[in-house]
Amino acid sequence: MQHFLQIADFSADELRQFLHKAKELKDELKAGGNQPILRGKVLGMIFQKPSLRTRVSFEVGMLHLGGHAIFISPNEISLGKRESVADVAQVLSGYVDGIMARVFSHEHLMELAQYSQVPVINGLSDYNHPCQALSDIFTIWERFNQVRGLKLAYVGDGNNVVTSLAVICAKLGMHITVATPKAYQLSAEVVTQVRNLAEESEINFAITDSPTDAVAEADVIYTDVWTSMGQESETEQRLKVFPPYQINRKLVSLAKPEAIVMHCLPAHRGEEITNEVADSSQSVIFQQAENRLHAQKAILALLLS
Ligand code: CP
Ligand code: NVA
Repeated sequence: MQHFLQIADFSADELRQFLHKAKELKDELKAGGNQPILRGKVLGMIFQKPSLRTRVSFEVGMLHLGGHAIFISPNEISLGKRESVADVAQVLSGYVDGIMARVFSHEHLMELAQYSQVPVINGLSDYNHPCQALSDIFTIWERFNQVRGLKLAYVGDGNNVVTSLAVICAKLGMHITVATPKAYQLSAEVVTQVRNLAEESEINFAITDSPTDAVAEADVIYTDVWTSMGQESETEQRLKVFPPYQINRKLVSLAKPEAIVMHCLPAHRGEEITNEVADSSQSVIFQQAENRLHAQKAILALLLS
Protein backbone atom coordinates (compact mmCIF):
# COMPACT_ATOMS: atom_id res chain seq x y z
CA MET A 1 0.00 0.00 0.00
CA GLN A 2 1.25 3.45 -0.91
CA HIS A 3 0.20 6.85 0.43
CA PHE A 4 0.45 10.19 -1.40
CA LEU A 5 1.71 12.48 1.35
CA GLN A 6 4.67 14.28 -0.18
CA ILE A 7 6.38 14.50 -3.57
CA ALA A 8 9.71 13.52 -1.99
CA ASP A 9 8.37 9.98 -1.41
CA PHE A 10 8.33 9.31 -5.17
CA SER A 11 11.15 8.79 -7.64
CA ALA A 12 11.29 10.80 -10.86
CA ASP A 13 10.17 7.67 -12.74
CA GLU A 14 7.16 7.22 -10.47
CA LEU A 15 6.23 10.88 -10.89
CA ARG A 16 6.45 10.48 -14.67
CA GLN A 17 4.18 7.43 -14.36
CA PHE A 18 1.54 9.62 -12.66
CA LEU A 19 1.92 12.20 -15.45
CA HIS A 20 1.50 9.64 -18.23
CA LYS A 21 -1.53 8.14 -16.49
CA ALA A 22 -3.03 11.64 -16.15
CA LYS A 23 -2.52 12.23 -19.87
CA GLU A 24 -4.06 8.88 -20.76
CA LEU A 25 -7.11 9.54 -18.56
CA LYS A 26 -7.50 13.11 -19.81
CA ASP A 27 -7.28 12.07 -23.48
CA GLU A 28 -9.75 9.28 -22.87
CA LEU A 29 -12.21 11.62 -21.16
CA LYS A 30 -11.93 14.22 -23.93
CA ALA A 31 -12.59 11.47 -26.49
CA GLY A 32 -15.85 10.72 -24.68
CA GLY A 33 -14.75 7.66 -22.76
CA ASN A 34 -13.95 6.74 -19.19
CA GLN A 35 -12.38 3.80 -17.46
CA PRO A 36 -14.49 2.49 -14.58
CA ILE A 37 -11.34 1.12 -12.95
CA LEU A 38 -12.49 2.02 -9.45
CA ARG A 39 -15.99 0.59 -9.79
CA GLY A 40 -17.56 0.16 -6.37
CA LYS A 41 -14.65 1.84 -4.56
CA VAL A 42 -15.23 4.66 -2.10
CA LEU A 43 -13.00 7.62 -1.17
CA GLY A 44 -13.51 9.26 2.23
CA MET A 45 -12.64 12.97 2.06
CA ILE A 46 -11.80 14.70 5.35
CA PHE A 47 -11.73 18.50 5.19
CA GLN A 48 -10.50 20.69 8.06
CA LYS A 49 -10.32 23.71 5.74
CA PRO A 50 -12.51 25.06 2.91
CA SER A 51 -12.03 23.96 -0.71
CA LEU A 52 -13.48 24.32 -4.18
CA ARG A 53 -11.00 22.60 -6.50
CA THR A 54 -9.78 19.79 -4.25
CA ARG A 55 -13.21 18.73 -3.12
CA VAL A 56 -14.94 18.88 -6.48
CA SER A 57 -12.08 17.42 -8.53
CA PHE A 58 -11.68 14.41 -6.22
CA GLU A 59 -15.42 13.84 -6.10
CA VAL A 60 -15.86 14.10 -9.87
CA GLY A 61 -12.69 12.05 -10.38
CA MET A 62 -14.09 9.17 -8.33
CA LEU A 63 -17.35 9.39 -10.25
CA HIS A 64 -15.51 9.22 -13.60
CA LEU A 65 -13.62 6.14 -12.45
CA GLY A 66 -16.81 4.34 -11.44
CA GLY A 67 -16.49 4.93 -7.69
CA HIS A 68 -17.96 7.27 -5.12
CA ALA A 69 -16.63 9.93 -2.73
CA ILE A 70 -17.94 10.94 0.69
CA PHE A 71 -17.39 14.49 1.91
CA ILE A 72 -16.68 14.76 5.63
CA SER A 73 -16.95 18.38 6.71
CA PRO A 74 -14.78 20.02 9.39
CA ASN A 75 -17.65 19.99 11.89
CA GLU A 76 -18.39 16.30 11.55
CA ILE A 77 -15.34 14.60 12.99
CA SER A 78 -13.24 17.53 14.34
CA LEU A 79 -10.09 15.51 13.69
CA GLY A 80 -8.12 15.03 16.90
CA LYS A 81 -10.71 16.74 19.09
CA ARG A 82 -13.93 14.69 19.07
CA GLU A 83 -11.88 11.58 18.44
CA SER A 84 -8.17 10.85 18.14
CA VAL A 85 -6.60 10.87 14.67
CA ALA A 86 -5.54 7.24 15.11
CA ASP A 87 -9.10 6.16 15.93
CA VAL A 88 -10.54 8.12 12.98
CA ALA A 89 -8.02 6.42 10.66
CA GLN A 90 -8.84 2.94 11.91
CA VAL A 91 -12.61 3.43 11.85
CA LEU A 92 -12.75 5.15 8.47
CA SER A 93 -10.42 2.69 6.76
CA GLY A 94 -12.84 -0.08 7.73
CA TYR A 95 -15.44 1.56 5.46
CA VAL A 96 -13.60 3.16 2.56
CA ASP A 97 -10.93 2.20 0.01
CA GLY A 98 -8.96 5.45 0.24
CA ILE A 99 -8.80 8.56 2.42
CA MET A 100 -8.12 12.05 1.14
CA ALA A 101 -7.50 14.62 3.85
CA ARG A 102 -7.02 18.39 3.96
CA VAL A 103 -5.64 19.30 7.36
CA PHE A 104 -3.90 22.03 9.29
CA SER A 105 -1.12 20.00 10.90
CA HIS A 106 0.93 17.77 8.59
CA GLU A 107 1.51 15.53 11.63
CA HIS A 108 -2.19 14.65 11.51
CA LEU A 109 -1.81 13.39 7.95
CA MET A 110 1.18 11.28 8.90
CA GLU A 111 -0.78 9.85 11.81
CA LEU A 112 -3.76 9.10 9.55
CA ALA A 113 -1.40 7.26 7.20
CA GLN A 114 0.23 5.39 10.06
CA TYR A 115 -3.04 3.99 11.34
CA SER A 116 -5.01 3.67 8.09
CA GLN A 117 -5.47 0.32 6.39
CA VAL A 118 -6.07 2.12 3.06
CA PRO A 119 -4.03 4.69 1.06
CA VAL A 120 -4.08 8.26 2.39
CA ILE A 121 -3.83 11.18 -0.06
CA ASN A 122 -2.73 14.65 1.06
CA GLY A 123 -5.25 17.27 -0.10
CA LEU A 124 -3.14 20.09 1.45
CA SER A 125 -1.59 20.61 4.85
CA ASP A 126 0.11 23.61 6.41
CA TYR A 127 3.37 22.03 5.22
CA ASN A 128 2.71 21.07 1.59
CA HIS A 129 0.28 20.49 -1.32
CA PRO A 130 1.56 17.60 -3.43
CA CYS A 131 -1.61 17.06 -5.55
CA GLN A 132 -1.31 20.69 -6.66
CA ALA A 133 2.36 20.27 -7.58
CA LEU A 134 1.71 17.12 -9.63
CA SER A 135 -1.16 18.82 -11.48
CA ASP A 136 0.98 21.90 -12.10
CA ILE A 137 3.85 19.92 -13.60
CA PHE A 138 1.28 18.19 -15.79
CA THR A 139 0.07 21.61 -17.00
CA ILE A 140 3.67 22.71 -17.70
CA TRP A 141 4.39 19.46 -19.55
CA GLU A 142 1.23 19.86 -21.66
CA ARG A 143 2.20 23.41 -22.61
CA PHE A 144 5.90 22.92 -23.36
CA ASN A 145 5.97 19.19 -24.26
CA GLN A 146 8.90 18.92 -21.86
CA VAL A 147 9.80 19.71 -18.29
CA ARG A 148 13.55 19.20 -18.02
CA GLY A 149 15.57 22.37 -18.53
CA LEU A 150 12.70 24.83 -18.16
CA LYS A 151 12.92 27.53 -15.50
CA LEU A 152 10.16 28.22 -12.98
CA ALA A 153 10.16 31.43 -10.92
CA TYR A 154 7.97 31.37 -7.82
CA VAL A 155 7.26 34.82 -6.42
CA GLY A 156 5.44 35.32 -3.12
CA ASP A 157 5.08 33.53 0.20
CA GLY A 158 7.37 30.57 1.03
CA ASN A 159 4.35 28.40 1.78
CA ASN A 160 2.86 24.89 1.39
CA VAL A 161 2.34 25.25 -2.37
CA VAL A 162 5.92 26.23 -3.22
CA THR A 163 7.26 23.56 -0.89
CA SER A 164 5.80 20.78 -3.06
CA LEU A 165 6.44 22.68 -6.28
CA ALA A 166 10.15 23.16 -5.55
CA VAL A 167 10.56 19.46 -4.75
CA ILE A 168 8.82 18.29 -7.93
CA CYS A 169 10.77 20.76 -10.10
CA ALA A 170 14.04 19.54 -8.63
CA LYS A 171 13.05 15.89 -9.04
CA LEU A 172 12.03 16.35 -12.68
CA GLY A 173 14.88 18.63 -13.73
CA MET A 174 13.33 22.10 -13.84
CA HIS A 175 15.41 25.06 -12.71
CA ILE A 176 13.65 26.92 -9.93
CA THR A 177 14.13 30.30 -8.30
CA VAL A 178 12.05 31.24 -5.27
CA ALA A 179 11.63 34.94 -4.49
CA THR A 180 10.11 35.74 -1.11
CA PRO A 181 10.44 38.54 1.41
CA LYS A 182 13.22 37.66 3.86
CA ALA A 183 10.81 36.92 6.71
CA TYR A 184 8.70 34.56 4.58
CA GLN A 185 11.29 32.21 3.08
CA LEU A 186 10.97 28.48 2.59
CA SER A 187 11.95 26.61 5.74
CA ALA A 188 15.63 25.71 6.11
CA GLU A 189 14.75 21.97 5.93
CA VAL A 190 12.94 22.41 2.61
CA VAL A 191 15.81 24.49 1.21
CA THR A 192 18.29 21.75 2.13
CA GLN A 193 16.06 19.04 0.68
CA VAL A 194 15.58 20.90 -2.62
CA ARG A 195 19.27 21.80 -2.78
CA ASN A 196 20.22 18.12 -2.52
CA LEU A 197 17.69 17.08 -5.15
CA ALA A 198 18.80 19.92 -7.44
CA GLU A 199 22.38 18.71 -7.19
CA GLU A 200 21.34 15.18 -8.16
CA SER A 201 19.30 16.48 -11.11
CA GLU A 202 21.97 19.02 -12.07
CA ILE A 203 19.57 21.95 -12.13
CA ASN A 204 19.80 25.42 -10.62
CA PHE A 205 17.91 26.16 -7.43
CA ALA A 206 18.13 29.73 -6.15
CA ILE A 207 16.59 31.69 -3.30
CA THR A 208 16.29 35.46 -3.52
CA ASP A 209 14.25 38.35 -2.21
CA SER A 210 14.19 39.98 -5.64
CA PRO A 211 11.15 39.24 -7.84
CA THR A 212 12.84 40.85 -10.85
CA ASP A 213 15.95 38.67 -10.53
CA ALA A 214 13.74 35.60 -10.12
CA VAL A 215 11.67 36.06 -13.28
CA ALA A 216 14.64 36.73 -15.59
CA GLU A 217 14.71 33.99 -18.29
CA ALA A 218 11.73 32.25 -16.64
CA ASP A 219 9.45 29.99 -18.69
CA VAL A 220 6.93 29.82 -15.85
CA ILE A 221 5.99 32.46 -13.29
CA TYR A 222 4.07 31.08 -10.34
CA THR A 223 2.40 32.79 -7.39
CA ASP A 224 -0.05 32.04 -4.57
CA VAL A 225 -1.94 34.03 -1.95
CA TRP A 226 0.11 36.03 0.53
CA THR A 227 -1.97 34.76 3.46
CA SER A 228 -2.81 31.07 3.52
CA MET A 229 -5.77 29.42 5.22
CA GLY A 230 -5.22 29.51 8.97
CA GLN A 231 -2.97 32.61 8.88
CA GLU A 232 -5.80 35.15 8.68
CA SER A 233 -4.64 37.02 11.82
CA GLU A 234 -1.44 37.94 9.92
CA THR A 235 -3.22 39.43 6.91
CA GLU A 236 -2.66 43.07 7.84
CA GLN A 237 1.06 42.60 8.48
CA ARG A 238 1.51 40.57 5.29
CA LEU A 239 -0.28 43.21 3.21
CA LYS A 240 2.43 45.68 4.27
CA VAL A 241 5.32 43.42 3.21
CA PHE A 242 4.19 41.64 0.06
CA PRO A 243 3.10 44.31 -2.50
CA PRO A 244 6.53 44.35 -4.25
CA TYR A 245 5.94 40.65 -4.96
CA GLN A 246 2.80 41.22 -7.03
CA ILE A 247 2.68 39.52 -10.44
CA ASN A 248 1.76 42.38 -12.72
CA ARG A 249 2.34 43.19 -16.36
CA LYS A 250 5.68 44.88 -15.65
CA LEU A 251 7.07 41.85 -13.81
CA VAL A 252 5.78 39.42 -16.45
CA SER A 253 7.48 41.49 -19.18
CA LEU A 254 10.85 40.66 -17.60
CA ALA A 255 10.41 36.91 -18.17
CA LYS A 256 10.67 35.09 -21.51
CA PRO A 257 8.07 36.41 -23.99
CA GLU A 258 6.39 32.98 -24.19
CA ALA A 259 6.37 32.53 -20.39
CA ILE A 260 3.19 31.25 -18.77
CA VAL A 261 1.71 32.55 -15.51
CA MET A 262 0.40 30.09 -12.92
CA HIS A 263 -1.57 30.33 -9.68
CA CYS A 264 -3.03 27.41 -7.74
CA LEU A 265 -6.12 29.47 -6.91
CA PRO A 266 -8.07 30.76 -5.05
CA ALA A 267 -6.53 34.12 -6.03
CA HIS A 268 -6.78 37.41 -4.24
CA ARG A 269 -6.92 39.43 -7.42
CA GLY A 270 -5.35 42.86 -6.99
CA GLU A 271 -2.98 41.50 -4.34
CA GLU A 272 -0.57 38.77 -5.49
CA ILE A 273 -1.78 38.93 -9.11
CA THR A 274 -3.45 41.66 -11.14
CA ASN A 275 -6.64 41.02 -13.12
CA GLU A 276 -4.77 42.03 -16.23
CA VAL A 277 -2.23 39.21 -15.81
CA ALA A 278 -4.67 36.60 -14.44
CA ASP A 279 -6.91 37.08 -17.49
CA SER A 280 -4.11 37.49 -20.04
CA SER A 281 -3.23 35.02 -22.79
CA GLN A 282 -0.12 34.05 -20.82
CA SER A 283 -2.20 32.90 -17.86
CA VAL A 284 -2.99 29.18 -17.54
CA ILE A 285 -4.75 29.37 -14.18
CA PHE A 286 -7.95 27.70 -15.33
CA GLN A 287 -6.14 24.90 -17.20
CA GLN A 288 -4.28 24.32 -13.94
CA ALA A 289 -7.54 24.08 -12.04
CA GLU A 290 -8.99 21.65 -14.58
CA ASN A 291 -5.85 19.53 -14.52
CA ARG A 292 -6.35 18.87 -10.81
CA LEU A 293 -9.09 16.50 -11.99
CA HIS A 294 -6.89 14.58 -14.42
CA ALA A 295 -3.79 14.42 -12.22
CA GLN A 296 -5.75 13.27 -9.18
CA LYS A 297 -7.58 10.65 -11.22
CA ALA A 298 -4.11 9.30 -12.02
CA ILE A 299 -3.25 9.26 -8.30
CA LEU A 300 -6.54 7.50 -7.49
CA ALA A 301 -6.09 5.01 -10.33
CA LEU A 302 -2.53 4.11 -9.34
CA LEU A 303 -3.13 3.96 -5.57
CA LEU A 304 -6.63 2.52 -5.28
CA SER A 305 -7.02 0.07 -8.17
N1 CP B 1 -5.85 25.00 -5.26
C1 CP B 1 -6.65 24.41 -4.34
O1 CP B 1 -6.28 23.46 -3.64
O2 CP B 1 -7.93 24.93 -4.30
P1 CP B 1 -9.03 24.65 -3.19
O3 CP B 1 -8.53 25.23 -1.90
O4 CP B 1 -10.27 25.32 -3.69
O5 CP B 1 -9.21 23.16 -3.06
N1 NVA C 1 -1.37 28.48 0.20
C1 NVA C 1 -2.82 28.39 0.08
C2 NVA C 1 -3.18 27.39 -0.96
C3 NVA C 1 -4.64 27.18 -1.17
C4 NVA C 1 -4.95 26.13 -2.18
C5 NVA C 1 -3.41 28.02 1.42
O1 NVA C 1 -2.88 27.14 2.09
O2 NVA C 1 -4.42 28.63 1.79
